[in-house]
Formats: sequence, structure tokens, C-alpha cells
Amino acid sequence: MQELGGRVAVVTGAASGIGRGMARAFAAEGMRVVASDLEAGALAVVAEELRASGAEVLEVVTDVADAQAVEGLAAESYARFGAAHVLCNNAGVLNDNRPTWESSLDEWSWVMGVNFMGVVHGVRSFVPRMLEGGEPGHIVNTASMAGLMAGTTNAIYYASKHGVVSLSECIQNELNALGAPIGVSVLCPGPVRTEIVDSDRNRPNAPPVDEPSREYRRRFRRFLDTGVEPDDVGRLVADSIRDERFYVLTHPSWDSLIKARFEAMLDGTAPAAERWPRE
Ligand SMILES: NC(=O)c1ccc[n+]([C@@H]2O[C@H](COP(=O)([O-])OP(=O)(O)OC[C@H]3O[C@@H](n4cnc5c(N)ncnc54)[C@H](O)[C@@H]3O)[C@@H](O)[C@H]2O)c1
Repeated sequence: MQELGGRVAVVTGAASGIGRGMARAFAAEGMRVVASDLEAGALAVVAEELRASGAEVLEVVTDVADAQAVEGLAAESYARFGAAHVLCNNAGVLNDNRPTWESSLDEWSWVMGVNFMGVVHGVRSFVPRMLEGGEPGHIVNTASMAGLMAGTTNAIYYASKHGVVSLSECIQNELNALGAPIGVSVLCPGPVRTEIVDSDRNRPNAPPVDEPSREYRRRFRRFLDTGVEPDDVGRLVADSIRDERFYVLTHPSWDSLIKARFEAMLDGTAPAAERWPRE
């Protein structure tokens, strides 16, 4: 999609981090923005900031894990702007690390519900409307480097992000087969300086944080602090839509981890063990 100005972008998880970076980048491109998030207070602040910059903004509080709520988001977006040209299924959460067999089903439901089903809900509610509109469009699904490389910890997060990569690949091929004018990108960032370490601020009935989890979060935050700025990722996403780039990576220095995974597959060997988070 070459021209972004005047078109409508919907962003989930827009109240913080990468989603806010995307919303800012789209507003700077002259797009109309539907900013959506579960956290009402932080969302109102971002919406005000975007309006002050001159953008036309609709803010919608939505839990992406709730299919009906996302259907409501689509209905409100179309009622206000009559179209959604860019859909960013970005909202996501990070769980604390513990062995897979010790992770509760509640933890699985929370992370898969937001990171994976949140994308499914966005696709199911928006794509039929986008196809019916017949206008050029683009879907950006936020996965992670964790969706491309072999994991050693945090299996739930890795599994959710591998799912988003696979889903995105299939959707792109389905849309191509239809000849639809809708592109897809899957965003696979390495470390970005955001608030994801404190994801349980939005978790229903979040369990208390124990000391190993506190220590894990401290290490993870130090790791993210070595990363890139979310506003730079937002601008990269806007450019990738224009360039019709499918895989959007932020850290070229990590390419070797992707290669190592595919080489292990072809060799039939165990996946390379990358300690996580890197110190
Ligand atoms: N920060 C990183 O290093 C990094 C790396 C790879 C991928 N990602 C992915 O980027 C995306 C954005 O995360 P971030 O790092 O900006 O974190 P963040 O915590 O700063 O922002 C995430 C936003 O999503 C919202 N959110 C959480 N649960 C929600 C729900 N159920 N419904 C709607 N909104 C919800 C939060 O309120 C928050 O505003 C996530 O999908 C994450 O997995 C982040």
C-alpha cells in the first residue's frame, strides 16, 4: 500500500510501547487512527497526544482476548471512519519464566488468549469487512524473534509467537490466492524498550509475584533496556507497509539464531540452546 495519508489505521495495544510507536508513526503520516487498548487511562493519554498532534483519533477500550469485544471494535471503527486500511494486531503479554510443566492452565489461557487468539479475533472481525470494502489494505501482526528462533525458556510465549508467524504466512497466501489487494506483515522484534515486563498489570486475577519471578523481571528489563526504541519500530512498520515487506525484523545481528534453527531442522539435531534473556 503506497499511500498512507488519509487512510485509516487500527492499532491494538496502542496505549504503550510498540503499539503507541505505531500509532504515532501513522498519525505523523496523516492517517486517521483507531487506538485501542485494554488499559483505559493510558489509552486516553495517548489518544489526547495524537489529537494534539493534529490526527483524527477514535479510542476504543478493547480486550483482544474477547472475540465479541473485537467485533465491537471493528463495528465502531467502520461506523466512525467507514473503512480500516491498516490493521495492527499488536496487543501482547509476556509471562514469567518457569518450566512448561509447572505453568498453570490459567497462564496458558492468558498468554495464548491475548497473543494468539487476539490476532485471530482481529483477523476474523476485520478481514471480511476489508475484503467487502475492496480498497487496498494491510495487516500487521506482531509476533517476535521468539516466533522465529528455538526457545529455551518461556514456552507459552514462544508457542504463541510461532503461532502468529504461521497464521500470518497462511493469511498472506490465502489473500494472494483470492487476488485481494491486502498485504500482510509479521513484525518480529528483538528487544524493544517497552513495559512488557509488567504485563500482568492488565491480567485478570493476576497471581502474586514470587521472588524468582521478580528476579526474572529485573533481568528481562535490563535486557530490554539494551534494545531499540518503540517509536523507531513504529516508523519501521509504516515503511514496511509501503514497501510490502512481509517479515519485519528489527535486529539483523540476531539472524544467526534463525539460521541455526533451520540448520538444526535439516540436520535433525537438537535446537541450539540460546540462554534467555541474554545478559
Ligand atoms: N518489547 C519487546 O522487546 C518485544 C519484542 C518482541 C515482541 N514484542 C511484542 O510487541 C507487542 C507489544 O508489546 P510491548 O513490548 O509494546 O509491551 P507494552 O506492555 O509496552 O504494550 C502492550 C500493550 O498491550 C496492551 N494489552 C495487554 N493485554 C491486552 C488485551 N488483552 N487487550 C488489549 N490490549 C492489551 C497493554 O495494556 C499495553 O498497552 C506484543 O505483542 C509483544 O509480544 C515485544
